[in-house]
Amino acid sequence: MSKQNKRFYIKTYGCQMNDYDSAKLEALLLKHGYSRAEEPEDADYIIANTCSVRKSAEDRAFAFLSTQKPLRKKGTKICLLGCMANLYGPDLLKKHRFLDIVCGPNNYKDLPEILEKGGRQSFTGDCADPFLEVFHPPDSSLSACITVTKGCENFCSYCVVPFTRGKLASRPPETILKEIEWLSEKGVREITLLGQNVNEYGRGTETDFSSLLEKVQSIGGITRIGFTTSHPKDIPEKLIGLFKTMPRLYKHLHLPMQSGSDRILALMNRKYTLEKYMRIVDKAREAFQDINITSDIIVGYPGEKKSDFDETCRAIEKISFDDLFVFKYSNRPGTPASMMKETVSSDEKENRHKTILSIQDSISLSRNERYLGKKLPVFMRSASGKKKGFLVGRTITNKPVLIKSGGENLGLVMTAEITKAFRRYLAGVLCDVNRQEKVSSPSRGQN
Ligand code: SAH
Ligand code: SF4
Ligand code: F3S
Repeated sequence: MSKQNKRFYIKTYGCQMNDYDSAKLEALLLKHGYSRAEEPEDADYIIANTCSVRKSAEDRAFAFLSTQKPLRKKGTKICLLGCMANLYGPDLLKKHRFLDIVCGPNNYKDLPEILEKGGRQSFTGDCADPFLEVFHPPDSSLSACITVTKGCENFCSYCVVPFTRGKLASRPPETILKEIEWLSEKGVREITLLGQNVNEYGRGTETDFSSLLEKVQSIGGITRIGFTTSHPKDIPEKLIGLFKTMPRLYKHLHLPMQSGSDRILALMNRKYTLEKYMRIVDKAREAFQDINITSDIIVGYPGEKKSDFDETCRAIEKISFDDLFVFKYSNRPGTPASMMKETVSSDEKENRHKTILSIQDSISLSRNERYLGKKLPVFMRSASGKKKGFLVGRTITNKPVLIKSGGENLGLVMTAEITKAFRRYLAGVLCDVNRQEKVSSPSRGQN
């Protein structure tokens, strides 16, 4: 069979960076004459783009690939890509006879040749220029994510990412901007820039992340810009200042705190204290009073005592986050934390997890209730998946707003009055039936 007839199926696990990589891989394979299969059964190559951040993510991806085993009888190749490939390396082929290809995130450029060559092969390790400069058309959506850095050298004690993604490398601004211009021409209006720590974008060069954001704002058609993630250890004042000065930047800061105990933060090698963290929150709120601040918390880190956990709960209440992602500590091979004895039982992790979620439920609701009765500009971002005849917009603070509206308003910024507030979203009604601006109009002072 010629490769023109060969089909691939990709299933993606993990973070937005993996989603982005999968889209690029798809574009690369299409460019090389492969085509997409709708179901794994119809594919010649079944690809899982895996995640290693927690054991549960690995288990899910592995279970998916294992269930595809019988298809190998008819010649289907089973390919394990992504972070697990780099973490476990060529050993995966030895241990799991049903795997044909193992390929890490820094080796995707070579994937078409790897597939063509056939046989059981493994390609893992680091690479200075891993960025796949092939564009993927947006899937009829107004929003797109773009990776701007690869890798991470921060070595937070619990985290596997430095081992899976390798050294930090920044994608040149020219190629990022070219891609965004291309996406804008295709109708994308909202861009989210991705990096494990965007603060480190351009490290050792003339450029920095704040300048990149400003350049993105000057691209015609881009109405909203977001970014994730920013590390509290080195967030620059200049970046915080942009919440005040950049009209199209979402006023949303995802600032992972991980713990409210200085002792645990030090063990985690996070390089900040709770006091420093709170100062950043204050500054962000000075720049934009209602800024949406979200965070990540890990419960049950080795050595986390009840008193450390209580400090985390107090910090959460004091800071009053808009929302939180709470994770139970998962022991990851090769990380410094994996050498420490786990001291928190899984039942206790579960309890701590539940406790934080319930504290956050009421804080999130009351943060959202502050929007009641306000008339705000809302970016009409997507159709509601649940409610027919409704769109889901975003406030400038990146809060979802459910609004009754026809699809013709998609992509516009319209004024809505917030009529209801829930734990995870707001509901509103449109104030102006007349369109405020056309999506296709290039950059003007809209916000
Ligand atoms: N680069 C980002 C985070 C990437 S991982 C940052 O530094 O903020 C996303 C989140 O997963 C982390 O913020 C952390 O809360 C969680 N996480 C990472 N490793 C984990 C582990 N071993 N167990 C549980 N949660 C983990
Ligand atoms: Fe992991 Fe820390 Fe790097 Fe984030 S900054 S990816 S938590 S090592
Ligand atoms: Fe992302 Fe998971 Fe890798 S969170 S960077 S896909 S380990």
